[in-house]
Amino acid sequence: MNGLHRLEYRGYDSSGIAFDGDDIEDNHVSKSKRACLLVRQKGKVEELEHAVKSLENVAWDAEFTVHVGIAHTRWATHGEPSAINSHPQRSDDQNQFVCVHNGIITNYKDIKQYLMNKGYVFESETDTECVVKLVKYLYDKHKNEKISFQKLIEMACSQLEGAFALLFKSIHYPGELCATRRGSPMVIGVKCADQLAANHIPVMFSKDLNHQNTKDSRNDVHVSETTSSNLRGIFSPPLMITDHSTTELAVTSNDRSIEYYFASDASAIIEHTNQVIFMEDDDLAVVSNGALTIHRTQHGEVSGQSAIREIHELKIELQQIMKGNYKYFMQKEIFEQPESVVNTMRGRINFNTRKVVLGGIKDYINEIKRCRRLILIACGTSYHSAVATRQLLEELTELPVMVELASDFLDRSTPVFRDDVCIFISQSGETADTILALRYCKQRGALIVGFTNTVGSSISRESHCGVHLNAGPEIGVASTKAYTSQFIALVLFALVLSEDSISKEPRRKAIIEGLQQMPELIKKVLQCDKQIREYAEALYKETSLLVMGRGFNFATCLEGALKVKELTYMHSEGILAGELKHGPLAMVDDTMPIVMIIMDDPVKTKCMNAYSQVQARGGQPVLICNDDDHELLKLSHKHIGVPRIVDCLQGVLCVVPMQLLSFHIATLRGFDVDCPRNLAKSVTVA
Ligand code: G6P
Repeated sequence: MNGLHRLEYRGYDSSGIAFDGDDIEDNHVSKSKRACLLVRQKGKVEELEHAVKSLENVAWDAEFTVHVGIAHTRWATHGEPSAINSHPQRSDDQNQFVCVHNGIITNYKDIKQYLMNKGYVFESETDTECVVKLVKYLYDKHKNEKISFQKLIEMACSQLEGAFALLFKSIHYPGELCATRRGSPMVIGVKCADQLAANHIPVMFSKDLNHQNTKDSRNDVHVSETTSSNLRGIFSPPLMITDHSTTELAVTSNDRSIEYYFASDASAIIEHTNQVIFMEDDDLAVVSNGALTIHRTQHGEVSGQSAIREIHELKIELQQIMKGNYKYFMQKEIFEQPESVVNTMRGRINFNTRKVVLGGIKDYINEIKRCRRLILIACGTSYHSAVATRQLLEELTELPVMVELASDFLDRSTPVFRDDVCIFISQSGETADTILALRYCKQRGALIVGFTNTVGSSISRESHCGVHLNAGPEIGVASTKAYTSQFIALVLFALVLSEDSISKEPRRKAIIEGLQQMPELIKKVLQCDKQIREYAEALYKETSLLVMGRGFNFATCLEGALKVKELTYMHSEGILAGELKHGPLAMVDDTMPIVMIIMDDPVKTKCMNAYSQVQARGGQPVLICNDDDHELLKLSHKHIGVPRIVDCLQGVLCVVPMQLLSFHIATLRGFDVDCPRNLAKSVTVA
């Protein structure tokens, strides 16, 4: 349940759990089996918790040597949020097979039709029910062959198209669990109570037998051989890679005190263990008899992935994913920004020598500098960080810079060349559209650079090189601290690429000085919280809010309006002030709520023109302006002053009032800012 709570940001319209119940007699096979209890509930995980607690006849104090439970919190794609559409989905009313699924099965209609022709009756509208019924169908078909759980699941998954991370449990395979993924993330946590107590962190020895990464068109993926100084760990043998026909990886142990946790995000399991294995596409992991084995499925044999699965030690602390003294994660994350931006810069800038080093890309700098163009690709807030830094990247690198929404980039089948550098920006590193765009560019031979906040995420693993944001886990669905860290990481990237340019030196110096002041200046902006709450009180009953600006702060308008939409459900638009007279001005009258961002920067005069045009139509915008810009402060009594910083970094400071404003409007409207309706933090379906 704790794990589910931590995953709620992924989806929260319904949830469910399946776990071992009492032993039952099986008349078909003369041995006893454990019943599978299934509880599903519409609404948030809290509702499920109540439903489970109120179950009758459950021996809560029963102890099992081995037991398996699977659970899920849902963001509806097929079928409305309801108990019957929640996961685990089941094969039949005895719950012989149950399964949870993250992703979309695109050929589910064909499978459903096939099974309906065989007499199967479906109870839900989900694509997932087809999968679990298919497993049951295959089980019945091969019943006499005593087929293993692994083979059964492999057989079923070979029929699936689309994206999935799946967990299966069955009364026919007590104490066993099967997990597989293709396109959706899955991590395995390994916890051995004895080992941890003895302070023996198990480290796996792994050796790559699969040096030829045939699918990678660049052929330059470096797979290192890792060795361990502590081979007395729990894994004995530590890691076996049997030869390629099945390409089977095996981590075996007879130690029953090991617990395995499978999750689509490490935050769900971090309170139990920080030792994790990231599953790759077409891995099939099986826990049976207390041992974990990982196999490559037939489908996976052609995928060209490495055969190494190492145990990684995660650095996330439990308290990082708790609210602390704040009421909401989003609030905590807004107020964490003075520290999160420092973490993004830590160890990367020497403020004395003005040397900037990004370790994750340093071997690729020359290649990047020689590229045809930089293409920045992302979704949502991450896309806005690309818009925010594009101008600086163009200025410092003198390269053509494209910024692209991942879905549109793919829709257009955009031409990509080997000498392009494609930069993928993603907080989660798991956004399906962004991953698909990454693979598209990788296939065309471009250099792939990942900017993510999640170590071990699909984007960070599939990139040739990259930059970790180090902003710490972000749980609130609306992104805040990840945005400011993405902004700063991209500025660092621009600084690294312009290091040799003497003419750019004064500009670089101003930017580096600005970065040094940044944490203190963010703290100053945060002090406006009370004042911003007052503006929110004046605005929260409105139905619309326009956010206008241009130049370096156009992105702030887009991001500010996105925050308002996501959290308050009001209509909001980020408007480029230069486009005002080409349409948006028609919306302006004395009742239209407007925020205008006017900084003392090269576009100030143009922004002032826009301000006059708005005022002439009765508009009375709240201004976000420099706190020492007396000309503007005199102009309007409705203003939020932010400290002065070099123009290209001003957007980091200007976005904070918009984060706070949308936060306060939403809470005044009575909405849960951490879980806005219809949204999910990590959209792992395309
Ligand atoms: C979802 C979230 C947004 C986020 C976007 C991209 O839509 O609700 O907050 O900006 O995905 O996510 P990413 O993890 O790729 O940055």
